[in-house]
Amino acid sequence: MDKVATVDPTDLQQEALSAAAEARTLAALNEVRIHYLGRSSALKLALRNVRDRETGMTLNAVRETVEAALTAREEALARAELEERIATERVDVTLPAEVLGKPKLRPRGTLHPTTLIRRDVEDAFIGLGYEIREDKEIETVEYNFDKLAFPAWHPARSPRDTFYLDATHLLRTETSPSQIYALEEKPPPVYMVSIGRVYRRDAITPTRFPIFHQFEGLAIDRGITMADLKGTLLHVMRALFGEEREVRFRTHYFPFTEPSMEPDVSCGVCGGVGCPTCKHTGWIEIGGSGMVDPQVLLNVGLDPNEWGGFAFGLGLERAAQLRYDIPTIRPFWEGDLRFLRQFR
Ligand code: DAH
Repeated sequence: MDKVATVDPTDLQQEALSAAAEARTLAALNEVRIHYLGRSSALKLALRNVRDRETGMTLNAVRETVEAALTAREEALARAELEERIATERVDVTLPAEVLGKPKLRPRGTLHPTTLIRRDVEDAFIGLGYEIREDKEIETVEYNFDKLAFPAWHPARSPRDTFYLDATHLLRTETSPSQIYALEEKPPPVYMVSIGRVYRRDAITPTRFPIFHQFEGLAIDRGITMADLKGTLLHVMRALFGEEREVRFRTHYFPFTEPSMEPDVSCGVCGGVGCPTCKHTGWIEIGGSGMVDPQVLLNVGLDPNEWGGFAFGLGLERAAQLRYDIPTIRPFWEGDLRFLRQFR
């Protein structure tokens, strides 16, 4: 039987248009297109066998109408599918990772207490206009001792106290060499704090460990007095340990300062009345300080009659121990998460 005869153009168009309208997806719509306009569709076969002009025009009109309907429907479906994807694939980056059906991310760590106190020290000094610096841990005898005016007999020079790498190199025993570097780098005024690790051949005790951190301060300018040193340390101690802290100074000896003093901070455990933590004195030792010795200034080529200032050196772990009430220094270096997780 001739296929043309079986095609009723009006019915076919109606059928194709409703099939297009009912297609819910682009894939389904494509099936409709193949069925009604494909190479072996009834319409194409009919067109191929057309004999008279009138039938040809009718069938072509149907083809165009169906084509246009399919294209319009395709655009509508594509838009709807895009909107659907935008709505369902939206990622809320603020949700916890598990909610998105992904495996749990690695748990967040906490900052080491030394890092926490270090940041507070940096903040306090940056607030005063100091520059923060870091210098190397392998040092020369010249910079660790000689330029800081350590006398030949000073016990810190002994290999019993200091880790020597060879006759002229050692692991720095203090951050004080930064004073020399800072002054050799540029002319005063200099206001700097140097933070880093230092090494000593010490036996381990509640407050000593062969490796620890220090922060070293240096202020060199015209007309600096000991009142400036006291005020600076008081400000920083209060920033670290609380507004009610007091600072006092005891005379001491350091090769590179004259006069030299050890600052004590009032005990926060007992408020200064005396307790086991402060050995019943009300005060806790926190480091060393003093007015920069003229010899140190001469060693870096500065005129001590023009320039002067103060320096101080304090232990970071010591400060953290005081701040967080940690009885021994050892856990700072053991990496035990039960200890480290307590600090935020
Ligand atoms: N370098 C000294 C030490 O490690 C601490 C110190 C004392 C640093 C007095 C200073 C200072 O800058 O002026 O024991």
